[in-house]
Amino acid sequence: MQEYIEKAKVLVEALPYIKEFSGKIVVIKYGGSAMVDERIKASVIQDIVLMKLVGLKPVIVHGGGKEISAMLSKIGKESLFVNGLRVTDLETAEVAEMVLSGKVNKDIVQLIQNHDLDAVGISGKDAKTLKVSKKEIDGYDVGYVGDIDKVNTGLIETLLNHDFIPVIAPVGTDDQGDTYNINADYAASAIAGALSAEKLIFLTDVEGILRDVKDSASLISRIPVQDVPKLIDEDIISGGMIPKAECCAWGIKQGVKRVHILDGRLEHSVLLEVFTKKGIGTMFLS
Ligand SMILES: Nc1ncnc2c1ncn2[C@@H]1O[C@H](COP(=O)(O)OP(=O)(O)OP(=O)(O)O)[C@@H](O)[C@H]1O
Ligand SMILES: [Mg+2]
Repeated sequence: MQEYIEKAKVLVEALPYIKEFSGKIVVIKYGGSAMVDERIKASVIQDIVLMKLVGLKPVIVHGGGKEISAMLSKIGKESLFVNGLRVTDLETAEVAEMVLSGKVNKDIVQLIQNHDLDAVGISGKDAKTLKVSKKEIDGYDVGYVGDIDKVNTGLIETLLNHDFIPVIAPVGTDDQGDTYNINADYAASAIAGALSAEKLIFLTDVEGILRDVKDSASLISRIPVQDVPKLIDEDIISGGMIPKAECCAWGIKQGVKRVHILDGRLEHSVLLEVFTKKGIGTMFLS
């Protein structure tokens, strides 16, 4: 009996959070190894399903860098990165779209639907949700990498209003109708800002932002957004963490109330963050 009373207490503890966030939009950027390990994948999906069932409005924006690299290597193409962004020629853009919009997106949709909820997979191309222009980086041409100019939220809002969970692949088009690969962190942040989301959560394959990437005990729990450029300049934040940290800062600047980087490898990290007092990962402050 005691065991059941303890379980009931856990549910009651979540009540204030359920009340606070009911009806609110939470954008989850799902990427890294949290998307590769099947057990972890199942736990992330369970968290999202539970969120939806208790009245929150989750929106998923996914990455798929590892899957794109794996597919490119199958066709004998090397993956190159500049400042954490994939150098994307026409062939790479086509492979990225196939992997993201085709495989990764529909896998996530199906995993959600296995729980009897309805998810709809779209890419930023659908209903011109993500309008982009070519990303300019000093001294480099990274090819078909898009900078988001505008998020047209109509389709996402229609899906949310009809109780679907939107699952969005980070692919967009420019004014000429060319296809661009978008770093999913930018897509998530732009979408969260445009939807005036309550929370923006980046699930990745590290504990959060670490002072020393090799030392998981060096987690920085709170970062004021004005410190981000300095941490990048000092090379504390590097590689794939550069766009993510920039997007966290950008999320806060766009008015998203709470922005977090969480360890997607930790089982139920989303539930821990949203429905308990436990502070995990890195939280960004204005
Ligand atoms: N200071 C830092 N703290 C933590 N991780 C860091 C830091 N600097 C660089 N990194 C790297 O950033 C990586 C996370 O970014 P990455 O782009 O690889 O994953 P993701 O964005 O979650 O997935 P995807 O790109 O597929 O969407 C970590 O695995 C780590 O190697
Ligand atoms: Mg990344």
